[in-house]
Amino acid sequence: MGLSAGGRECPFSLDGQVVLVTGAGRGIGRAVALGAAALGAHVAVMARTAAQVREVARQAEAYGVHAVALPGDVRRRADVEVAVEAAWSSLGPIDVLVNNAGAFEAHEFLATPYEKWRGLVEDNLAGAFHCTQVVAARWVRARRAGRVVNVSSVNGSFGVGWSSAYNVAKSAIDELTRTWAVELAPYGIVVNAVAPGFIDTAMARARGESDFETEAFRRFYVGERRIPLARPGTPEEVAGAVLFFASPACRYVTGQVLAVDGGLSITY
Ligand SMILES: NC(=O)c1ccc[n+]([C@@H]2O[C@H](COP(=O)([O-])OP(=O)(O)OC[C@H]3O[C@@H](n4cnc5c(N)ncnc54)[C@H](OP(=O)(O)O)[C@@H]3O)[C@@H](O)[C@H]2O)c1
Repeated sequence: MGLSAGGRECPFSLDGQVVLVTGAGRGIGRAVALGAAALGAHVAVMARTAAQVREVARQAEAYGVHAVALPGDVRRRADVEVAVEAAWSSLGPIDVLVNNAGAFEAHEFLATPYEKWRGLVEDNLAGAFHCTQVVAARWVRARRAGRVVNVSSVNGSFGVGWSSAYNVAKSAIDELTRTWAVELAPYGIVVNAVAPGFIDTAMARARGESDFETEAFRRFYVGERRIPLARPGTPEEVAGAVLFFASPACRYVTGQVLAVDGGLSITY
């Protein structure tokens, strides 16, 4: 357990822990990496855009912790093996894996050939598969406990149009969270997930106009309070939930998917 500033044990502290965050070059992953650093963790920052991961690692180090930038594609097994080895050897054994990397692409079911659709599913599944298998195998070999936090989406639970591949992948992430929790529990590994709703990041602005600036969003989600808190969330608000699952305080919770959506899932 980490120590608080007052010298008392604080189960939420990540003091001295090593946290690997995928998709940490911007958005939710960046907020998780910086939030973990603020709680005292050494952080390994992985994404494809080298300049972004270097910048986030530099910002993390401002909290007085060590950070390593790991440019790489989580969909490629070789990239994941190289990144995990680099994190483990430069920061020490990994304590927490945050599977956050993901990509959204709107598509119409009737107009999407199977190969394209399968690729969109894999874009959101392969990374979590490779990272969890590589890191958990090391935990088992080293007889170390560990915590995995998956970043899913409320799309994994609702029928949301024009995103069937993404929705299927996130549903699978929810089920992998439960299945891994069962299979890895004997090794002292807990596995949980957060399912964000509308969060203000580059992903939400990918189609040029922010989701939150549309008339439909203002009328339906805000005006009619389909999001009871009547606004999109911030990456830092998602990070808060991720960091609970990442902390030593999360010892008797496993296989859970927590919506971080301003209440959207209770009215949907
Ligand atoms: N924003 C939302 O409203 C929302 C809602 C629900 C769930 N989520 C989930 O939250 C997670 C983060 O999303 P975000 O909104 O923060 O998106 P974002 O701003 O687009 O950031 C995504 C991050 O993932 C990295 N990434 C994507 N594919 C990767 C790959 N194959 N290998 C390595 N890194 C990869 C990106 O960097 P590179 O492109 O440089 O690799 C980037 O750093 C995703 O899993 C997403 O599905 C987001």
